Amino acid sequence: MITYEVPLVPGPTRVPQAVREAYLTDYGSADLEPEYSAEYARVQAGLGAILGTANKMAIMTGEGMLALWGALKSCIVPGDRVLAVSTGVFGHGIGEMAEQIGAQVRYVEFGYDHIADPDEVEKAIRQFRPKMVTAVHCETPSGTLNPVAEIGMLVRKYEVPLYYVDAVSSAAGVPVRADDWGIDLCLVGTQKALSAFPDLAIVAVSERAWEIIAQVNYPGYAALLPFRDALERRWFPYTPSWASLAALHVAVKAVLNEGLENVFNRHRTVAQATRDRLRAMGLELFPADEAACSPTVTAVKVPSHLTWQELDRRLRERGVVMGGSLGPLEGKVFRIGHMGSQADMALVERGLEALREAIRK
Ligand SMILES: Cc1ncc(COP(=O)(O)O)c(C=O)c1O
Repeated sequence: MITYEVPLVPGPTRVPQAVREAYLTDYGSADLEPEYSAEYARVQAGLGAILGTANKMAIMTGEGMLALWGALKSCIVPGDRVLAVSTGVFGHGIGEMAEQIGAQVRYVEFGYDHIADPDEVEKAIRQFRPKMVTAVHCETPSGTLNPVAEIGMLVRKYEVPLYYVDAVSSAAGVPVRADDWGIDLCLVGTQKALSAFPDLAIVAVSERAWEIIAQVNYPGYAALLPFRDALERRWFPYTPSWASLAALHVAVKAVLNEGLENVFNRHRTVAQATRDRLRAMGLELFPADEAACSPTVTAVKVPSHLTWQELDRRLRERGVVMGGSLGPLEGKVFRIGHMGSQADMALVERGLEALREAIRK
């Protein structure tokens, strides 16, 4: 198997040894051992500090998409109105997922190199009166960070029942304050800034969302409802992955031990240095405005004298792996994932030095 000395993919990120070691224990049955509940409660509290929420969480075995689907299916019934704030592949995709469930979806569309303009979102909320507004905090394929706090204020102003925010690639890399921002469904994966394996999907659910979830009573595999009282009942659906939870606990403790402000500063500093260095190399950032750039991932235009395939090959030859992009950005944009364990100046500098060599004509 090929591993790269300089991993800079925007998820899955490099998993630190202490997190990997948590998988070596042969854990017992989560249903039978009270220690599992205690571990779950500790992870929930730690994640609550990272996400700025006191809400109960569903911590499910699966990757990030499970959180995205589970939160939609648990809250939406055919005919419900969903307003999808779309500034990229995930923002648009969430709207399409809601359509598949039978929702009436209206998109507030922005260019994929832009972030959402709250005034446009406000107009759309006022006209459409949705049951749910969906937004993506860090739109990973575009390297942008959306103003989800401002959108949250509008959700409350117009008494929209549910605010759904994909924080998969922002959580633990930039501030997220789910309770202050009125986020009812805050979605997180473990393989981005948390730097654990891609095996848990997390949804922090507000009390008003739990009430809607109970009314909808969605019974499928991705259902959130069974997690509502899971801790109190000490019954977790279905066979939880204890090793994954233990590993996540190590990852969460690492973030909290470093201190959230230090973690956020590390991301900001590395991201700024990355952008400065890219510009000095003559490369162009994908986001139209630097203020839109996410501190967790930088999206760059593939230089016109190279294809992404060729650039990727040249980088790998030098022991560096970065990410391409998705959807309409595929082949045109590549990405440097400096999140979690990879928000490391020395690692990113090695990657950027290899990039400087790789783009030579
Ligand atoms: C913003 C965003 N949402 C959701 C996902 C889906 O997560 P996963 O790949 O773990 O299913 C990703 C993954 O790249 C993402 O970047």
